[in-house]
Amino acid sequence: MVLKSDYDRNVQNSIVENNLKWILHRNCEVLNSYEELTLKGMKTMVKVNDNYLKLPGSYLFSTIAKKVNAYTEANPDKKIIRLGIGDVTQPLSPAVISALHGAVDEMADAATFRGYAPDLGYEFLRSAIADNDYKARGCQIEADEIFVSDGAKCDSGNIQEIFALDNKIAVCDPVYPVYVDTNVMAGRTGTYDAATEKWSDVIYMPCTADNNFAPQLPKEVPDLIYLCFPNNPTGSTINKAQLQEWVDYANKNSAVIIYDAAYEAYISEADVPHTIYECEGARTCAIELRSFSKNAGFTGVRLGFTVIPKELKVGDVSLHALWARRHGTKYNGAPYIIQRAGEAVYSEAGKRETKELVAYYMKNAAYILDGLKSAGFSVSGGVNAPYIWLKAPNNMTSWEFFDYLLENANVVGTPGSGFGPSGETFFRLTAFGSYENTVEAVDRIKKLSI
Ligand SMILES: Cc1ncc(COP(=O)(O)O)c(C=O)c1O
Repeated sequence: MVLKSDYDRNVQNSIVENNLKWILHRNCEVLNSYEELTLKGMKTMVKVNDNYLKLPGSYLFSTIAKKVNAYTEANPDKKIIRLGIGDVTQPLSPAVISALHGAVDEMADAATFRGYAPDLGYEFLRSAIADNDYKARGCQIEADEIFVSDGAKCDSGNIQEIFALDNKIAVCDPVYPVYVDTNVMAGRTGTYDAATEKWSDVIYMPCTADNNFAPQLPKEVPDLIYLCFPNNPTGSTINKAQLQEWVDYANKNSAVIIYDAAYEAYISEADVPHTIYECEGARTCAIELRSFSKNAGFTGVRLGFTVIPKELKVGDVSLHALWARRHGTKYNGAPYIIQRAGEAVYSEAGKRETKELVAYYMKNAAYILDGLKSAGFSVSGGVNAPYIWLKAPNNMTSWEFFDYLLENANVVGTPGSGFGPSGETFFRLTAFGSYENTVEAVDRIKKLSI
């Protein structure tokens, strides 16, 4: 390629910008009206989204896996019990399995076969959700305010797309990492300070033993507030009056709350709200995310939903309309058979079986909680959530305790520092194992002399 002058170079640059996609499709060969201009070899002009490069490595679960593998190799006779990852272990319930079979059979017959699902999800599922999760609790959420998806991870990561890049987010510390990382990918979080493990443009709300693991209203007012109750990783919750304060704060400051209620089914105490729409005024400030993963064990089959009330507006722009546009453009729906399985969760049998599943895990939670308390640990969570949050004993760091537990009890948990700086010296155990393994793990921990 011959470049004649700066003028040529400028023209070329602007053509490159304008035609980048096209250039790539044509394998970098463009003949423009500008004579003899070829862009052969310009493949290097493509750039990555360098926001992704700002992400600090996610070492948490890979480091855990490496340490566990190394220990197992060196000690092949030891039985390791894993209470680290938040994945369920019990099978789907009979009502769900039967709905899945029925829906599979429908797909085998041209008369009942279904192709693409409606944009927002099938009406049968959205109505079941609106009736059971909302109207039954006195919350006026309509079926057409519900967007069915393949889970709360995608929705919690994608929802930020409908907000401007100069919006400031507030998150709990420690936190489910998806909220921060997806804002980093979008370019909304400023610069990362490896020493403090914080982003310059994120408002962190520490959740520590001093505040009962419940965030305080931030002094600097955020635009977007991520809240998750019952909480992962701390297992904490807030009561209705506390959540009402957040709703009032958001309405007063024109902020939007993104409320992740993925663990709603684990609530056992009367004063803990099951949905943010139990609070007055939430329809004008809150988006709610839900999942079928933890209540009905859908982690492998994938189903969730997002609620955006029609009154929720930024200026005069409806967030419901924006998300509907985004959903319609970028998403083609959860599979029909899975939506039928989701509907079955709300059948009489489904409700009963879901309760049994949750009770199974909560029996584990109670065993962990009681066992560790009796062994002298400082423990919280585990009452309205399947997570137990414990303080590492003897001033150990989270990772020191991880190593200690692996080597001395052959039990794997998750270091709290992996969820944020305020998680340091804490440790998360999950109730998602089998009962037998949970009992054995706790009994081993109780025998440790710490
Ligand atoms: C707080 C929170 N939200 C969302 C999810 C993901 O849910 P789903 O399986 O529906 O994607 C998890 C999973 O661990 C979670 O802890």
